[in-house]
Amino acid sequence: MTLSDEMLQQLVETAVEVRRWAYAPYSNYLVGAALLTTSGKIYEGVNVENAVFSNTICAERTAVVKAVSEGERSFQAIAVVTKNGGTPCGSCRQMLAEFGLDTLVIIADESGKIHRQAAVSELLPGAFTPRDLPRA
Ligand code: THU
Repeated sequence: MTLSDEMLQQLVETAVEVRRWAYAPYSNYLVGAALLTTSGKIYEGVNVENAVFSNTICAERTAVVKAVSEGERSFQAIAVVTKNGGTPCGSCRQMLAEFGLDTLVIIADESGKIHRQAAVSELLPGAFTPRDLPRA
């Protein structure tokens, strides 16, 4: 499924907008995400930090958890917005890989400028996926 320019723009704008809700008092690195399901819904996510630093959850994983917990498991694309167009971390790449290697990841900065677009398969080559687990 190809993504229209309008939808791509909408995803980036949504991620820019929701970034304001990021809870990042420790790193001050605000991250916003907008995840598009195959069914056409957009789930938003932000990073939520914690005084126990390791409890922090990234924006991308917040969005995936919100979507999956509402019954969505098929994703077309996710926009990730940071101040400087930073790239998704390994945990988030793995989380996305669970639900499909074809999901398009759009990496943009706070002005909405797109720095990179790549499929999950490109961001996480050789990913361990559900297919690697023998069925019970
Ligand atoms: N962070 C994300 O939300 N997504 C990423 O892919 C990279 C890192 C967050 C986690 C933490 O709150 C802050 O950015 C600095 O690492």
